[in-house]
Amino acid sequence: MTEERRSDLSGFYKKSVEERRAVAVDWAGLSEAEARAFDFPPGVDRATLERMIENVIGVFPLPLGVATHFRIDGRDRLVPMAIEEPSVVAAASNSAKVARAGGGFFTQTTPPIMIGQVQLTHVADPAAARLRILEAREALLAQANAKDPVLVRFGGGARELDVRIVPSERGTMLVVHLLVDARDAGGMNAVNTMCEALAPELGRLARGRPVLRIISNLAVHRLARARAVFPRELLRTPEADGAQVVEAILDAYAFAAADPFRCATHNKGIMNGVSAVVIATGNDFRAIESGAHSYAAWTARGTGTVLRPLTTYEKDADGNLVGSIELPTAVGLIGGATAVHPTAKAAVKLLGVTSAAELAGVLAAVGLAQNFGALRALATEGIQRGHMELHARNLAVSAGARPDEVDRVVARLVAEHAVRFDRAKAIIDELRGAPAPT
Ligand code: MEV
Repeated sequence: MTEERRSDLSGFYKKSVEERRAVAVDWAGLSEAEARAFDFPPGVDRATLERMIENVIGVFPLPLGVATHFRIDGRDRLVPMAIEEPSVVAAASNSAKVARAGGGFFTQTTPPIMIGQVQLTHVADPAAARLRILEAREALLAQANAKDPVLVRFGGGARELDVRIVPSERGTMLVVHLLVDARDAGGMNAVNTMCEALAPELGRLARGRPVLRIISNLAVHRLARARAVFPRELLRTPEADGAQVVEAILDAYAFAAADPFRCATHNKGIMNGVSAVVIATGNDFRAIESGAHSYAAWTARGTGTVLRPLTTYEKDADGNLVGSIELPTAVGLIGGATAVHPTAKAAVKLLGVTSAAELAGVLAAVGLAQNFGALRALATEGIQRGHMELHARNLAVSAGARPDEVDRVVARLVAEHAVRFDRAKAIIDELRGAPAPT
C-alpha cells in the first residue's frame, strides 16, 4: 500500500526558499533537472521576488517579447509583452505597422477614478438612509481623504459619493460607492483603506450593518480609448482587394456585436495584447481582465445581447477601416508590483511611460492592434496558417536547420501540411543532398 502524501505541511511558510523547494521536490519526486526549472534567473533581484508572495519556491518565467512599429499619439514605442501564446507579439507588430501607415494610434483617458463599495444591510428606510448619507457628503469625503494624505498631495483622493439601493435575495441593501481619483496608482489599497474607514460612520448614518468594504473591478469611470485608421490598400491579399477585406472585417465585427459566443472570443483576443502588457509591467492582470469582461457586459445592458465587443469598426469616407476601443484600465505605476518587480521596472522603462494614464493609452492601442490582427486573419486566410508557420519555424530550428535553411524548410513543411519533426529532419537531409530515406 502506498503511503498517502499529505499537503498539511505545518510551518512550511517559515522555511527558507531552499528548504521549501526541497520539501516540494521530494513530495512530488521531481528530478534535479526538473527542480532547476524553478531557479531564480541571474539578473533579477531574488530578495524582492522572495518577498512578493508567500511560500515561494522559485520563479515561473514567461517569454518577454517586444512588439514593434507602434506609434501612439505621435510617439514611437517598443511595447514589452509577457505571454506564453505564439503569434500574439507578431500580430500586434504587424497591425501596428498597418495603423502606422494611417497615422498611428490616438488615445485618450478619463481621470483615473476608481469605485469603492460599502455594503449596508438591515437598513429599514433605504430611501431616507441614502439621503442621510448624501447629506454627510463633505464630512465623509474629508474623512476618506484623511486616510491618504499622500494621494491627496499628488492631486488624487476621494471625489464623490453615490448611494445605490440594491434589491437582493437577502433583502434590500444600500450600496455606497466612494469614487476615488487614484492618480498613478492602481487604487486598490487607497480605495479599500478609505472604504474600511468610512464603513462605521456609513453604518451609523444608515442605521444598518456595514458588511463588505472593497474596490469594484468594474471600473466604469477609469477608461482608456484608442482609435486608428487601417488603410484599405494595405489590407489587400492575393485573393481579395482591400475593399473586400474591409467588408469581411466589418462582417466579423458585426458577428461579435450580435452574438455573445463570438463576442467572448473577440474580446479574449483583445486581452491577448492588453494582458501581455499588463503582465510585463507588473500590474494586476486579473483586475484588468475582470474589468474588461464585466465592462463588455455592462455596456450591453438594454441592447438585446449580453456582451458588447470592446472595439468598434467602421469605414471612413475613403473606404479605409477605422477601429476604436474603449475599456477600463485600472493600472498603476506606483504602489504595486510595478514599482518593485525588477523585470516590470525595466519593462516600464523600455515602454517609456511615466504615468498610469500613458500606460492605459498604450493598453488601449495594443488591444485594438491585437483585435484588428485577429479579425484580419480570421476574415481572410484564417489564423492557423500563421500559427503553423511559427510552429514550423520552431520545428525547423530544433531539427537542426541552419539559418540559411530555415525559410526553405518552413515553406516545405507548410506546403505539405506536415508540420512534424520527422518531416523537418527529412527535408533538411534532402536540402543537404542526403539520399531520401527509403
Ligand atoms: C486566440 O488567442 C485569439 C483569437 O481567437 C481572437 C479572435 O478570435 O478574435 C484569434
